[in-house]
Amino acid sequence: MDAKEVKSQLVLILDYGSQYTHLITRRIRALSVFSLCISGTSTLKSITDLNPRVVILSGGPHSVHTPDAPGFPAGFVEWVESNGVFVLGICYGLQLIVQRLGGVVMVGEKQEYGKMEIEVEKACGLFGSKKVGDKQEVWMSHGDEVAKLPEGFEVVAQSQQGSVAAIENQLRRFYGLQYHPEVTHSPEGMETLRFFLFNVCGVNAGWAMEDVVDEEIKVIKGTVGLEDHVICALSGGVDSTVAATLVHKAIGDRLHCVFVDNGLLRYKERERVMDTFERDLHLPVTCVDATEQFLSKLKGVEDPEMKRKIIGKEFICIFDDFAQDLEKKLGRKPSYLVQGTLYPDVIESCPPPGSGRTHSHTIKSHHNVGGLPKDMKLKLIEPLKLLFKDEVRQMGRILNVPEAFLKRHPFPGPGLAVRVLGDVTQENALDILRQVDEIFIQSIKDAGLYDIIWQAFAVFLPIRSVGVQGDQRTHSHVVSLRAVTSQDGMTADWYPFEHKFLNDVSRKICNSVRGVNRVVLDITSKPPSTIEWE
Ligand code: XMP
Repeated sequence: MDAKEVKSQLVLILDYGSQYTHLITRRIRALSVFSLCISGTSTLKSITDLNPRVVILSGGPHSVHTPDAPGFPAGFVEWVESNGVFVLGICYGLQLIVQRLGGVVMVGEKQEYGKMEIEVEKACGLFGSKKVGDKQEVWMSHGDEVAKLPEGFEVVAQSQQGSVAAIENQLRRFYGLQYHPEVTHSPEGMETLRFFLFNVCGVNAGWAMEDVVDEEIKVIKGTVGLEDHVICALSGGVDSTVAATLVHKAIGDRLHCVFVDNGLLRYKERERVMDTFERDLHLPVTCVDATEQFLSKLKGVEDPEMKRKIIGKEFICIFDDFAQDLEKKLGRKPSYLVQGTLYPDVIESCPPPGSGRTHSHTIKSHHNVGGLPKDMKLKLIEPLKLLFKDEVRQMGRILNVPEAFLKRHPFPGPGLAVRVLGDVTQENALDILRQVDEIFIQSIKDAGLYDIIWQAFAVFLPIRSVGVQGDQRTHSHVVSLRAVTSQDGMTADWYPFEHKFLNDVSRKICNSVRGVNRVVLDITSKPPSTIEWE
């Protein structure tokens, strides 16, 4: 299916603030249908410009009765009906349909939260693949309840408590599910979405990552003029690497990448990532060794936020120098900058009111060390801005980015600076930390645990403890090991290693890293701790 056809099958999600909204988008993409999510308070024009085949109204934390409850814009129903668009309301979305089309939603009569059983009342439309009386478990999460349906609508499923669980008006093409089909706690939810899209709406599946790659390459070629040059700062992480590889495929060596060794990288990291960039991906990368520059500025600095700021500022200076050198070499200014922005960043930068979601820029500012000079006036290329992280990995696979690289644990921009507590230049802290970290990570890989752990690393503590090694008393360094499982880094649990694994790692570290006589294990989840120590 070509890009135009894929776009003509668009399923557009209007986000009213449910924590599951992204999941709906992902589930639909998993069915090979192109899906986008925009704010539930978008204008009619921004909805109609996208020309969707189906619109899904998401769940949300509001009651349709509150004065500022978000809803679709004026003229939406008329536009939907005159264009043959299908609409599915989920949870809050269903209540919005009922209220706006003339029905009644009552406040909190039969609240339903958690797992519930529903029963099919009518086997057509939404439940065309079921029989009347078929039961299924679903995930409910609503305080308000439908009391009276708008004219022409019928109840097609009920909950065990007798509440409305699903409604439809086939003639007007409006459908609603009171529960969340997108979560795994609704085991048959995916089948219901599949049936709705393909059998009810007649959508054609055709969205494939290979096509996305081809389309993005075409777009980049069409955007960047034949004389234009493009720059990209590679962090060694998945997103910037995949973005750069894609742009390189489109414009070849008019892409110029820079990788900065700030002296805060892990054991042999510079060699390892440069090897991947050059040998596996053939990316044109300049490696700048700025170890001295960073470490001299960090000397004596103990405050973690100050460290982040210094690192961010130094990075900008180096990037600026790189761009100026390039300008001298090329005889013209580079015109574009590639960034590996992902879809969740785009969506979260305009969360719907009342969603409780914070502005992504607020979350990231604490992490943001790589801001780039504003006065450079570079236009942005963000080829991943419609993709989720797992889709970026999928794209990486198509672009031949090595699997081991795609699965690397996240690594913070300020690197080991936030893993050496206090002054990073104290004694030989960085050197010790690199060795300990390498032993820990290698042991995790050998035990086959790397892919199930979200992030694992060692931390250098700014204290000494008494020990006995051989027949000698020692007064040496203490290191801590941290490994967590997580879905997205927002919350995390510490990983319960087996006793033998921990025993082996601890011995290996004390026996082979000079200057360490004590290894401790971090057993705190997030919250109350963060993942990093600083
Ligand atoms: P925390 O420590 O806040 O970390 O629980 C959540 C995730 O973010 C990473 N992290 C950073 N990433 N710059 C980054 O690019 C930073 O300053 C930074 N601090 C934390 C952390 O490694 C984890 O994956």
